[in-house]
Amino acid sequence: MAIGIFDSGLGGLTVLESVARRLPEVPLVYLGDNAHAPYGVRTADDIFGLTCAGVERLWAEGCDLVILACNTASAAALKRMQETWVPEGKRVLGVFVPLIEALTERGWGDNSPPREVAVKHVALFATPATVASRAFQRELAFRAIGVDVEAQPCGGVVDAIEQGDEILAEALVRSHVEALKRRMPHPEAAILGCTHYPLVEKTFRAALGDGVRVFSQPELVADSLADYLARRPEFAGEGRASRFLTTGDPGSVSDRAVQFLRRPVSFEAA
Ligand code: DGL
Repeated sequence: MAIGIFDSGLGGLTVLESVARRLPEVPLVYLGDNAHAPYGVRTADDIFGLTCAGVERLWAEGCDLVILACNTASAAALKRMQETWVPEGKRVLGVFVPLIEALTERGWGDNSPPREVAVKHVALFATPATVASRAFQRELAFRAIGVDVEAQPCGGVVDAIEQGDEILAEALVRSHVEALKRRMPHPEAAILGCTHYPLVEKTFRAALGDGVRVFSQPELVADSLADYLARRPEFAGEGRASRFLTTGDPGSVSDRAVQFLRRPVSFEAA
């Protein structure tokens, strides 16, 4: 029973780590589309094509259920994939819904009408493509009313993280938080809507200041997956082995993965 975890690059490893901690007995096959990262500056059609190719590769590994551990793919491609492309017997799930369920204090699959929730001012930090898709606002509107969302496209952050340039990534985070605060001086909650951002979560928290509740995805997604598998065990696919695959150069991707996992891993060519 293997589960597939897909990201444009290395950010999804933050989700993989949490899932591995939460479900230690489940083999996980990770695919990073490093050859085409970052997705955040690509068109929706492009992201759709690349994400479908990545998911098919994970199906070939015996993963009937694939998590898009990438907000950009979840925002720009997932709905279209689920509506037009995913065959019977397979599942592709994204990382937005668990986050929004946590923000709106809903249990899994609570499809009751939208209602007032405690938070009224929410800051969303994400890639330019995720912000442009407005998928977060769309999913939120199904569940909550009266929430003001201010979104900040965080250009450059994913690139800096993928290149291992921590100083640049942190400087960019501070300037994106400042830019957002000029438009929304007192957010009550902040969403880190990109799976790369847990690596600079401390910088986000420091720049946002006390009193802002920060929602980060890895644990939320791991809990939601555990819940899903308990209800739908038939989607734990037939794969038996954990693997790390990349469309990029396995050597350099393995080297860079260490900063995400803080342990050595060996990527193989996808
Ligand atoms: N980790 C991806 C996300 O969550 C990175 C996006 C990108 O490749 O630009 O959005």
